Amino acid sequence: MQVLVTGGLGYIGSHTSVLLLEKGYDVVIVDDLSNSNEKVLKNIFKITNKTPAFEKIDLKERESVSKLFKNYNFDGIIHFAAHKSVNESILYPKKYFQNNIGSLENIIDEIKLLKNPINFIFSSSCTVYGQADSMPINETFKLKKAESPYGQSKRKCEEILESVIESGHCFKNITLRYFNPVGAHPTSIIGELPTGVPENLVPYITQTAIGKRDFLTVFGNDYNTKDGTCIRDYIHIMDLAEVHISCLEKLTDVNDDNYFKVYNVGSGKGTSVLELISLFENVNQLKLNYKIGKRRNGDVIVAYADSTKIKDELNWSTKYSLENALETAWKWELNLKTNEQRNQN
Ligand code: NAD
Ligand code: WQD
Repeated sequence: MQVLVTGGLGYIGSHTSVLLLEKGYDVVIVDDLSNSNEKVLKNIFKITNKTPAFEKIDLKERESVSKLFKNYNFDGIIHFAAHKSVNESILYPKKYFQNNIGSLENIIDEIKLLKNPINFIFSSSCTVYGQADSMPINETFKLKKAESPYGQSKRKCEEILESVIESGHCFKNITLRYFNPVGAHPTSIIGELPTGVPENLVPYITQTAIGKRDFLTVFGNDYNTKDGTCIRDYIHIMDLAEVHISCLEKLTDVNDDNYFKVYNVGSGKGTSVLELISLFENVNQLKLNYKIGKRRNGDVIVAYADSTKIKDELNWSTKYSLENALETAWKWELNLKTNEQRNQN
């Protein structure tokens, strides 16, 4: 089965590509390297002993996408490719709408030309829920106006996918609303590679622990939560990667040519910022330099998932702990440093 993995050299895409290759799928990675590095291909080979096909294509370019679909015969598509920085999206909203929505539209135009319905998995985000009125969040919750253009772009993409189904085109889609992916592959050969100053908590923590950043600022400790800091649902990257295999298997099995499902993907557990820091310190036996700072604009206070639907319908459940995620995230940061030092010598 040939699977197109867009954004396959990025954080979630690379971990998913490894699992796909290990399960015997024929993987074609498309990435424009806007937020990744071609070295990841070699690292995927180091883990799997297999090299996926790679096409350096910008999915915003209509002609390139057309050519791609002429050259391959995909049975499935996992569409990860998107820009994902909330801060950058506020500064450059057009860049986010053009890339995140434009790329999806180009792919859908090609899908509409196919004779058989294709299996399609889309990466959405818990950001589409905004600050939900109660916890845990399930898929029936009303979506709220996203705070950032990034979030709005994800919401728009979900609407586009729904409208393809409504228009009667043969199309099998699962849309996944990820909560907060963290951690790295157990080998420490692939992991998250943030460019510039990380926006997300775990890479900021590991970069502080290794000395790349002086200290971590905890964005507010005066929220109405158990310890005053925000609560999130952190999910191990390997569990998240595994979900995509379950979805592909499901989509392959179903006979309905207009299949459309939306699932939350989270651990179901809420963890505060201070709890996460303390867990990181304990599992890795170190002390983190952190200070309490002001609230960050646009932060929701609490978000954690009710993942019952995906557990029941796809028989998927988490296997890895948050402790393991924080241990692998740290090992990955250490490994990056070793490689940087080797390259300098
Ligand atoms: P990432 O930036 O690590 O990976 C995305 C990849 O897509 C990168 O390698 C980038 O170079 C590529 N890309 C971007 N635009 C492209 C284009 N026009 N053509 C070709 N390639 C392009 O991000 P990630 O964390 O792996 O996220 C994957 C998906 O999951 C994204 O859609 C993101 O919005 C979504 N998501 C991520 C998180 C998270 O916290 N990481 C949470 C929820 C949803
Ligand atoms: C987690 C917690 C911060 C950094 C983002 C996107 C969202 C989705 C997931 C893609 C929050 C706190 C963080 C720091 C801190 N991504 N924090 N100091 O906010 O859940 O969401 O990633 O779809 O769209 O917005 O994740 O990792 O940025 O923050 O105190 O230096 O850590 O306030 O409470 P978040 P995050």
